Amino acid sequence: MRGWAAGLASCTGVLALVVISPHSSGQEKTRKAGAVASRAASASAGPAAVSYAQRFAGLCAACHGANGRSDMPLTPVLAGQPSFYSITQLFLFREGRRSNEAMTAVAKTFTDDDMRGFSEYIGTLPPVPAPPSATAPDKARMDKGRALAQQHKCVFCHGTDFSGGQQVPRIAGQREDYLKMSLRGFHDGTRPGYTQAMTAAVSQIPLEDLDTLAYYVARFPAPVPGDK
Ligand code: HEC
Ligand code: HEC
Repeated sequence: MRGWAAGLASCTGVLALVVISPHSSGQEKTRKAGAVASRAASASAGPAAVSYAQRFAGLCAACHGANGRSDMPLTPVLAGQPSFYSITQLFLFREGRRSNEAMTAVAKTFTDDDMRGFSEYIGTLPPVPAPPSATAPDKARMDKGRALAQQHKCVFCHGTDFSGGQQVPRIAGQREDYLKMSLRGFHDGTRPGYTQAMTAAVSQIPLEDLDTLAYYVARFPAPVPGDK
């Protein structure tokens, strides 16, 4: 872990990796054509004059959405994601630690400047709420999810509004299919984290409860029926 941190630090100019710190709640408010991935893979070949906003539109938006709100299955929403979190994940993809065919192809040719440039651009994308669903959320599942998020201290790191910060991702309004897959991945060890935080947080939680957490967080902050 120390090696990875040092690698990221040296290639991004980040001097010290911030240690997991409690989120202060008051402080803050499949598969697309392989063609897309391979076009994205040559991202770093583009002229430096092209801004990362333009490169994002050309290389990333097809999967992640022009405004960062993905509507593709199992593809995460990037809007509202802290840039520090994004760079840790691009780093993991580039180094082959976190594996996904599309993203590995995209990240493996990134220079350090690309990792920084794309992450900083992602950090400027305002959060985009999930489109309103036709059906009201299930009250029993929402209540259970809220209780689980307290019990397992998800709110301690991700914030009471799940907006994240620093290397902790925003999870509010993230796609439910992606949340479910990610939580199961941390649980069974197939998704290595940048730190051990998530493995420790979820390894003892039954899969059924992880799915309930994904259900709840994806709909947050939708009002729970029956609440005022
Ligand atoms: C072909 C589709 C595709 C393209 C193109 C693509 N991505 Fe992704 N991206 C994904 C998928 C799918 C994941 C989730 C991977 C996983 O499950 O581990 C992902 C994950 C990510 C993540 C991690 C998000 C998180 O919440 O952990 C970041 C950051 C990211 N992509 C940035 C980019 C950037 C920047 C580009 C353009 C240079 C890009 N992606 C292009 C499909 C794509
Ligand atoms: C000790 C702090 C901590 C706790 C507690 C914690 N998380 Fe996390 N979480 C993190 C960090 C840090 C990451 C970034 C993963 C990495 O290290 O690569 C993360 C990542 C995630 C992701 C992946 C998001 C993405 O975009 O890929 C999800 C989903 C998530 N956490 C949900 C939860 C839930 C649900 C709980 C409660 C059961 C929880 N977390 C508890 C710190 C924490």
